[in-house]
Amino acid sequence: MRTPPPADAQAAALQALAARLGPAHLRHRLALESADETQVLRKGPLLQFLEHRVARPALLHALLRLVGLRERARRNTLRIELREHDVALQRLPPAFEGVRLLHLSDLHLDVGGGFMAALVERVRGVAHDLCVITGDFRFRTHGPWQPAMEALASLRPHLAPDTFAVLGNHDSIRMLPSIEALGVRVLMNEAACVGRGGQALWIAGIDDPHYFRAHALHKAADAIPDGACALLLSHAPEPYLEAAHCGFDLMLCGHTHGGQLCLPGGIPVMTCSSAPRALARGPWRHGAMRGYTSVGCGSSLLDVRLNCRPEVTVHRLVRRDVGSARC
Ligand SMILES: [Fe+2]
Repeated sequence: MRTPPPADAQAAALQALAARLGPAHLRHRLALESADETQVLRKGPLLQFLEHRVARPALLHALLRLVGLRERARRNTLRIELREHDVALQRLPPAFEGVRLLHLSDLHLDVGGGFMAALVERVRGVAHDLCVITGDFRFRTHGPWQPAMEALASLRPHLAPDTFAVLGNHDSIRMLPSIEALGVRVLMNEAACVGRGGQALWIAGIDDPHYFRAHALHKAADAIPDGACALLLSHAPEPYLEAAHCGFDLMLCGHTHGGQLCLPGGIPVMTCSSAPRALARGPWRHGAMRGYTSVGCGSSLLDVRLNCRPEVTVHRLVRRDVGSARC
């Protein structure tokens, strides 16, 4: 296991982040990383009860064992599906026709129990041109993050050279230098331009909008030229309205785990998101903006899934006129 970087190296890394992101963004993030989640999210009594009493790992494990579903639910976390999805984008530059985007979300890499072997096996050999990761590298929302980085290092050789990511509500901002040292560009309210055949596709990413609420869509979008085709990476679907108004063509996100523990038919009990349920999994659209919410590769809180298999997704970008609709 990797040892944490020495204190002076960590201090220098944080100083560099303050210069890059702005000192207030860094202070906001670091303060919330040590705050009480229920206070920050101002959840009502019912949601607090469901998430912090009913959803306690030991209680859920006991309930699943009682109804004879625990082992099946654990095995499901290793049965990662490959989903293929065509995305029609009106403004897609011709040079990007057919480009394949591998989308990973909610990896929770340090969960253990054979998950990393299953994920590497699933991703190995999946043909793709670009890779995007929509957050949640770590299993827990607190504690050591080095094991997740160790796991990411073993996954990295199977991902495209051009790999972009955003941080999720399980991720510390202290992880960012380690992720980028592996050649994964983390977009923190920033945008990057990918070139192909002399044409450009823009990929913007925002910091976690669910728990940290450190997202700044305008900051991410302002660098993108008017009329350019632009994708947005967001950990959670919550800021879909603002993203559509900013003019993004496609929003890719995760966070909901599709419910993770679902009723038959894949109906989520909880989505842990204030976005409409139509945005809890799979493809959706709002106005001219397309969206896709991944149910995630991993699992959080505890390593079980029911009626909601984990996924890795390949989005194939195609040029086509899209209509206008609200979700
Ligand atoms: Fe997650």
